[in-house]
Amino acid sequence: MHDDIERVLIDRATIERRLGEVAAQIVADFDARRGNGSGGELTLVPILTGSIIFVADLIRKLPVRMQIHLVSVSSYPSTSTTSRGARIRAELTNLPQGLQGAHVLVIDDILDSGHTMRMVTDLIAGLQPASLRTCVLLHKRRSESADVRADYVCFEIPDRFVVGYGLDYNDYYRNLPKIVVLRPEAVRQER
Ligand code: IMP
Ligand code: MG
Repeated sequence: MHDDIERVLIDRATIERRLGEVAAQIVADFDARRGNGSGGELTLVPILTGSIIFVADLIRKLPVRMQIHLVSVSSYPSTSTTSRGARIRAELTNLPQGLQGAHVLVIDDILDSGHTMRMVTDLIAGLQPASLRTCVLLHKRRSESADVRADYVCFEIPDRFVVGYGLDYNDYYRNLPKIVVLRPEAVRQER
């Protein structure tokens, strides 16, 4: 498995440090917003499966009253869409109930084309939350994603395929404790 790794992009200590900074920012912003009708709670909506490690570490740095509603985006091949990110059609399963009036923070592992994040936030915005913010571990720099931003980005990364710390290739490598770039030869199939 380690033969497939080209290089370490972000090590464990750097992730740990940056999560502390982002968590502090989330808490400060939340403190500034709370009190306007939500009972001072945060509702996290992590997108499965890639965000699991990130979210597990992040929430332990968020000393606020919170609920967690996991959602999963099921994607399947489609010819009706064009760009790389939209090559798949996606549907949100288990759309959480009770988000009306809630301070929602949607969390994903990586913002690539931005289609996943846009679909999830569009759906949740329709449920009339008190506030809606987004947080990603990684933001891949490429032109197509320029119009979809996340409110909290832990790391900007180059347009390379990365795995580890929850991110997968064909559902493997999620357990690597750091974020690594895979050798191009190792990334053969459609992602
Ligand atoms: P988007 O909809 O194009 O923004 O893609 C977001 C999803 O694509 C993420 O939740 C990941 O599952 C997946 N993805 C995009 N880039 C990578 C990568 O470099 N490694 C692993 N998964 C990725
Ligand atoms: Mg994913």
